[in-house]
Amino acid sequence: MTVPPPIIAPSILAADFARLAEEVRAVEGAADWLHVDVMDNHFVPNLTIGLPVVQSLRAATELPFDVHLMITDPRRWAPGYADAGAHNVTFHAEACDNPVSLAKDLRAAGAKAGLAIDRDTPIEPYLELLPSFDTLLIMTIKAGFGGQRFIPELLDKVRAARRHVDAGHLELRIEVDGGIAADTIEQAAAAGADAFVAGTAVYGAEDPAEAVRRLRGLAERATAGA
Ligand code: DX5
Ligand code: ZN
Repeated sequence: MTVPPPIIAPSILAADFARLAEEVRAVEGAADWLHVDVMDNHFVPNLTIGLPVVQSLRAATELPFDVHLMITDPRRWAPGYADAGAHNVTFHAEACDNPVSLAKDLRAAGAKAGLAIDRDTPIEPYLELLPSFDTLLIMTIKAGFGGQRFIPELLDKVRAARRHVDAGHLELRIEVDGGIAADTIEQAAAAGADAFVAGTAVYGAEDPAEAVRRLRGLAERATAGA
């Protein structure tokens, strides 16, 4: 298994939305990416933030944005997030009938392209599309809400993706999202994930930056010598 150094991406879904800029700065210097969950009350029942908030936040921090679109019709909205300066824009496989074409548009707009796979979606049909993507986000819960319990069975998808990525020598981050915390990150890393979203585990902690460092240490240790 070839796994690059881990990326830790705190999710602002668990932050205080009235103090977003401050909450983002609390993880600067510790986090690699800032994970931004966009939900539209259609693809998922929950509703969060959209483009205007991302545009304003973009000016408030140097951290790269990892935008996770849990929305229907990503073709209509995703390129706007690339134009707003997102580092990576991930949309859901379940919401898009031509993922490769949208990935091309995102790359042309200057962003990395990410494909997300929700809890009930098998990974196999998507493995052959991965050369068109820079990140593969595998949900370790059902998308829609923070603070849910990690589902270890979903790591089978991570293992399948890691085998495929290594065999094909693909340059692709395998990201896990949902219930990632000190007691779950090691098993996700051992399964082959190399990017870790953590909401509650970071923003529920007294010291968010310290929580990020701790998660990083655990992920590194889990893959050391693998
Ligand atoms: C949920 C979001 C996650 C969420 C994770 O659908 O995609 O990014 O913020 O939150 P925790 O880490 O609390 O499970
Ligand atoms: Zn997310």
